Amino acid sequence: MMEHGSSKVGAGKDAIGAPTMEHGSSKVGADSHSLPPVTYRGKVRDVYDLGERMLLVSSDRLSAFDVVFGDTIPDKGKILNSISAHWFSLLGDIQHHFISAQTVALPPAFRSPQFEGRAALVKKTQRIDFECVVRGFLMGSGYKEYQAKQTLAGEQLPAGLARGAVLPEPRFTPAVKNDSGHDENIPFAEMRARLPTYADELKAKSLGLFAFAFAALKERGIYLLDTKFEFGLLNNELLLIDEIFTPDSSRFVEIDAYNKAIAAGTEIPTMDKQIVRDYVESIGWNKQPPAPKLPADVIQKTVAQYRKMQEIILSIKPEAISRK
Ligand SMILES: Nc1ncnc2c1ncn2[C@@H]1O[C@H](COP(=O)(O)OP(=O)(O)OP(=O)(O)O)[C@@H](O)[C@H]1O
Ligand SMILES: [Mg+2]
Repeated sequence: MMEHGSSKVGAGKDAIGAPTMEHGSSKVGADSHSLPPVTYRGKVRDVYDLGERMLLVSSDRLSAFDVVFGDTIPDKGKILNSISAHWFSLLGDIQHHFISAQTVALPPAFRSPQFEGRAALVKKTQRIDFECVVRGFLMGSGYKEYQAKQTLAGEQLPAGLARGAVLPEPRFTPAVKNDSGHDENIPFAEMRARLPTYADELKAKSLGLFAFAFAALKERGIYLLDTKFEFGLLNNELLLIDEIFTPDSSRFVEIDAYNKAIAAGTEIPTMDKQIVRDYVESIGWNKQPPAPKLPADVIQKTVAQYRKMQEIILSIKPEAISRK
């Protein structure tokens, strides 16, 4: 499951380096508190395999169009980690992987400033290699499919829907996770053929989760346009894993801004790294590595979007939500 071809980080290649933990005046040596090597370095997160558990450490790295940028977005990792942690705390009886994001809950070697606020301790699962995408609106690759075939995940849609239009109902549009990093959208029927035991449950769970977050955000003047979930298996049970409802896994927009954009026929200003995407497209980058350098104001505006979403999401209280 953690084998990711060339992106796998081998033992001993840890670029982070093990910090020496200080307890009072005496330094604790590597034997008791040494940092294990990064097991897998994702585009954004570093993963440490701890046996039955895993530590997901969110960096400030930024990826767009599946390319990791040289520039980082200050505090982005902490923001994402706090957003996911908060959503997991709101999920009630939905089975998920999250254990804690508190420093005190981490293995001693990780209780240091470099991990502070960035680490999530989770249950290790056998990941299901599908992205469970739910779309409430016609955006991105969903809109491209619709333009080409008037379908979404292989299912027919009404004619005449514009880019960004609200869908008659939220749709489950799965993608296969590819080692190359470029995921491939597939019809639901194909997912069911490849994963007969779990496909229907994944679809139902994904649609339920989408409805839950959509309602909570709408009350705060935000539309959740679409989002991506990952699931894993532990003792034959499906657990929601990875990050949830973050600006890296979801598209959010202020409802007022959405309405204005739809009326004017302009781009929908989503609250995420859209600023970066717009900038790199404006300079004609071919979307192949290396990524271009980002101007300071693009970085600042991106941080501001992430912070704004963090503030909104962290204000959601459990009692304010009616869960299905
Ligand atoms: N509870 C879990 N059990 C197993 N794997 C998990 C769990 N939670 C998250 N993961 C995996 O940990 C990795 C987190 O790293 P990150 O999301 O940065 O990688 P990525 O570059 O997006 O790669 P990927 O395409 O594999 O998602 C992902 O591969 C994700 O699927
Ligand atoms: Mg990922």
